[in-house]
Amino acid sequence: MASTTSPPVTYESINPKVKKCEYAVRGEIVTQAQRLQQELQENPGSHPFDEILYCNIGNPQSLGQQPVTFFREVLSLCNHPAILDRDETHGLFSSDAISRAWEILDLIPGRATGAYSHSQGVKGLREAIAAGITARDGFPAKADDIFLTDGASPAVHMMMQLLIRSEKDGILCPIPQYPLYSASIALHGGSLVPYYLDEATGWGLEIFEVKRQLEDARSKGIIVRALVVINPGNPTGQVLSEANQREIVEFCKKEGLVLLADEVYQENIYVENKQFNSFKKISRMMGYDEELSLVSFQSVSKGYYGECGKRGGYMEVIGFTPDVREQIYKVASVNLCSNISGQILTSLVMNPPKVGDESYESFIAEKEGILQSLARRAQALEDAFNSLEGVTCNKAEGAMYLFPRLRLPQKAIDAAKSVNTAPDGFYARRLLEATGIVVVPGSGFGQVPGTWHIRCTILPQEDKIPAIISRLRAFHETFMNEFRD
Ligand SMILES: Cc1ncc(COP(=O)(O)O)c(C=O)c1O
Repeated sequence: MASTTSPPVTYESINPKVKKCEYAVRGEIVTQAQRLQQELQENPGSHPFDEILYCNIGNPQSLGQQPVTFFREVLSLCNHPAILDRDETHGLFSSDAISRAWEILDLIPGRATGAYSHSQGVKGLREAIAAGITARDGFPAKADDIFLTDGASPAVHMMMQLLIRSEKDGILCPIPQYPLYSASIALHGGSLVPYYLDEATGWGLEIFEVKRQLEDARSKGIIVRALVVINPGNPTGQVLSEANQREIVEFCKKEGLVLLADEVYQENIYVENKQFNSFKKISRMMGYDEELSLVSFQSVSKGYYGECGKRGGYMEVIGFTPDVREQIYKVASVNLCSNISGQILTSLVMNPPKVGDESYESFIAEKEGILQSLARRAQALEDAFNSLEGVTCNKAEGAMYLFPRLRLPQKAIDAAKSVNTAPDGFYARRLLEATGIVVVPGSGFGQVPGTWHIRCTILPQEDKIPAIISRLRAFHETFMNEFRD
């Protein structure tokens, strides 16, 4: 009988694609932050700060953002329909939340929110989402094109699974990028083909750069299958202009690329002179219908709703032949369906209260309150970063992050090297240990070689921002004094 003392699975024997995959927003710095948090709990006063401020991840409610009342009212009623008929419910919930919950339950076969749904999601909810997209874009959307998912992440994985056959298949991704893309490409064994956003022009997406990288990849035998565009950008916060989006659509059409449009920050725009246009709308305005293969990702995690933990989202899939769509459907079926609460929330996010509904005014007050506060926080943090020695920071036109560039003294770079760390990782670790502020080193997102950045969310509650800024300032001054050349 074979007997062995070594475990059946070792680090050496696991799938190398898993080992290759990295996910910095929950990486080493965060593990260290969790350790410090534990120490603070067990031994208050053991560090020069009394709490850890997680500015590493776009998780608004973990930092105190309150859920939108209307969405939660409807969700609660759908999840416990027994209270819909009770008299007290009318005193506790708004009348439009009650009527919306009835409408939604009527869309769900047997009103069974605990049952599996169709693998693309409840048909009636997809119809509601399609109506929301139609109202947003002014062009029709179809329920059959919508795949409801547990957030945007599984939708991205599904598309990578579909597109990547081997390491010869490449996906063009912005650098810096949100590491879901590099991680998913690594897990599926493909090749990330980088195109660099231009920091000097506010993280502009230049078509000549994308074209150059496409040609370079093709010359190495890579079959480039898709172009990822994140708009508004993460970690870079830029909002694409309509003209730029038109160029991108034309480029994908001409080069035969699937356009993977990550539009999860579509509600997060903080500047007057920019607005969100979906790539679907732009392609329709250009006269393209099914000729362009386009996937748009949306999520309940971002926007003003910030319902990350509820895991809801969808992808709208356009311009694929019926046999390919069948395969996408098959992959979706392997997961049976996405969670029903997430499906309901997604339908609400795409169909919020309208003028005349009882909740409308309080809903708008909550929505505007959150978005205006995010804009003020973005501005305050941007100004703070720009006031630091050797730091420059582009505007967060949208999304939830700032991505300041650090020009670090050579001595700091050498000190980082001596402990085998990237200079921005070294800076982020020192920042955490001195202030309890958790940021992600730019190396986790990719950056022009030799440049260093950190990504900081704009999500801490507004009353905490002044203290964060003064801690940041004091830390930076001490750091620069220690390492100044
Ligand atoms: C650009 C972008 N896409 C997708 C996601 C994934 O979000 P979720 O899976 O929560 O919908 C995130 C999360 O931060 C993101 O920033």
